[in-house]
Amino acid sequence: MQARAYAKINLTLEVLGKRPDGYHELVSLVQTISLADELELHPGDGLTLECDWPDLADDSNLVLRAARLLSRGGRFVLRKRIPVAAGLGGGSSDGAAALRLLNAAYQLDLPESELLAAAADLGSDVPFFLYGGTALVEGRGERVTPLPDQPEQWLVLLNPGLPLSTAAVFRELLPEECAAVSVTASWVGQNPAGMPMVNTLEAPAERLEPAISAFRQKLLDAGASEAHISGSGATLFALAADEHSAAAIAAACDGVVAYFIPRQEALRIQPDRPT
Ligand code: C5P
Repeated sequence: MQARAYAKINLTLEVLGKRPDGYHELVSLVQTISLADELELHPGDGLTLECDWPDLADDSNLVLRAARLLSRGGRFVLRKRIPVAAGLGGGSSDGAAALRLLNAAYQLDLPESELLAAAADLGSDVPFFLYGGTALVEGRGERVTPLPDQPEQWLVLLNPGLPLSTAAVFRELLPEECAAVSVTASWVGQNPAGMPMVNTLEAPAERLEPAISAFRQKLLDAGASEAHISGSGATLFALAADEHSAAAIAAACDGVVAYFIPRQEALRIQPDRPT
């Protein structure tokens, strides 16, 4: 069995404050996009992971951790396309895809609550990927409200190639930078074009990696009207009016064109490798 593990962007990411457990309370509008890893599962005894980036196939890989959580095995093959530690949720999406593949391949028929608990155990970004599409994410990431799919939307990604640790960016966040009033709620049910995009983690990420601002300027110079980091960065994204405009912006700044992936597509599992 095979699934695409799509990347995400945070159209908004508002950090409301630090919690007693050390995590931060979030409100975020999250969207799956067309950049994707591919994950295959060949059910069987034992548990192995082959990855075209061999360094990633160690014991801490979320695919292997997902299998151990569900006490199931098999041979996983992972083809990485999503840059690592880039704010696009690549590792988290792989982990969620592994949970979905195991659930399907072994006909576990796990209740949603159990899959969600396993996903939250793997990481704060993982529960979202059990739903994909457009969703409101709250709490530390474990509360996911799926929203209706957005209309077709093109965008440009610009990855500065500067890996940023999520934990380090949260540590750098100052209490006074936390969002006082959430604007994310005003997004729900709206078309993203023209809505305010915010990301509380942008300032701390830029303090840790000042080069981010030069990459934002590259996107703006290429014709983007607005550009923000996704998650804790450092990948920047800019929404575009249409496919043609996205291609023009990407060509001018060496970026990558992508588009929103609706829920049904994000959750598709195929018997064979997708074409
Ligand atoms: O949940 P996950 O292990 O992916 O999170 C990585 C790190 O990011 C956490 O150890 C924590 O420092 C930070 N984090 C946070 N608040 C969140 C999510 C992550 O402080 N809601």
